[in-house]
Amino acid sequence: MSKKNLDWANIGFSYMVADKRFVSNYKDGKWDDGVITENSMVTLSEDAGVLHYAQECFEGLKAYETEDGKIVTFRPDLNAARMEDSAKRLEMPPFPADRFIKAVEEVVAANKDWVPPFGSGATLYIRPVMFATGNVIGVKPADEYQFRIFVTPVGPYFKGGAKPIVVKISDFDRAAPHGTGNIKAGLNYAMSLHAIVTAHEEGFAENVYLDAESRTYIEETGGANIIFVTKEGGLVVPKSHTDSILPSITRRSIVYVAREILGLDVEERPVKLSEVENFAEMGLCGTAAVISPVGKINDHGKEICFPSGMDEMGPVIKKLYDTLTGIQMGKVPAPEGWIH
Ligand code: COI
Repeated sequence: MSKKNLDWANIGFSYMVADKRFVSNYKDGKWDDGVITENSMVTLSEDAGVLHYAQECFEGLKAYETEDGKIVTFRPDLNAARMEDSAKRLEMPPFPADRFIKAVEEVVAANKDWVPPFGSGATLYIRPVMFATGNVIGVKPADEYQFRIFVTPVGPYFKGGAKPIVVKISDFDRAAPHGTGNIKAGLNYAMSLHAIVTAHEEGFAENVYLDAESRTYIEETGGANIIFVTKEGGLVVPKSHTDSILPSITRRSIVYVAREILGLDVEERPVKLSEVENFAEMGLCGTAAVISPVGKINDHGKEICFPSGMDEMGPVIKKLYDTLTGIQMGKVPAPEGWIH
């Protein structure tokens, strides 16, 4: 077998059905051994818990081809741990972390021809997903579940790749204080669909959500966490006092890279919308978004323009981007345990 014949440099962020996926089912109180299968379809009973009460959570990670031709994944242990947190919060049976990592390896190996070549700009997106297949009609957790991992090659999440985007301050809320904003549940994304369609119609790439309690603090966007750079070149990362921001693995890695590798000042603290105009650079970060620069925020017609402008990434975000992606692609030495 050899690599699929795709126009790797020009694929977007969309689903392409790859050859194989991993599927395990939970029944009678335990997960079965799981199989690698070609069947990409899911058959559900009409009263499966996922269809009614949104009992579902998911993850996102990527596989990369390195310069010397190896295929690696980035910190899959953190995805396994976060999915365990998500499952527990939704009263679902966690899929064991060691089996999660092994299943990721198996799926990537089974689809190695779909891993985009080094330097193509594309990566293999890996999507673990767990959902209630068991019957419910009253509001309660189901007693049967499916865990599945599929892959699809992807290009940049935002059209234009590294070009700065324009985002808007949303009037909608993404997550309630002490709700489910800090887990990767599909329901958090369902809440954002009307807002993202509206934002796109208005010409914006994403929505910035404020904290639902006071609508004063910056939280995150629909599909990514946020980072800021101060005029002095330090990193500022919004932190929620109501625990409603998703703990992005990319963001946590950026904090480490900034502090330990690049020697930058890093603050993780609540960030008010009113102080954002003082920052020099802004970026969105996540597995899908990697680090995408933001040139402008539109706050109900008032434009907050970052000095980094609309043409290219600001210098600090560029350094973070180059170091992070360098680690992921094997060009920069990785901290212990990051590359799998
Ligand atoms: C990811 O970054 O992996 C996500 O799950 C975000 C999603 C909106 C694509």
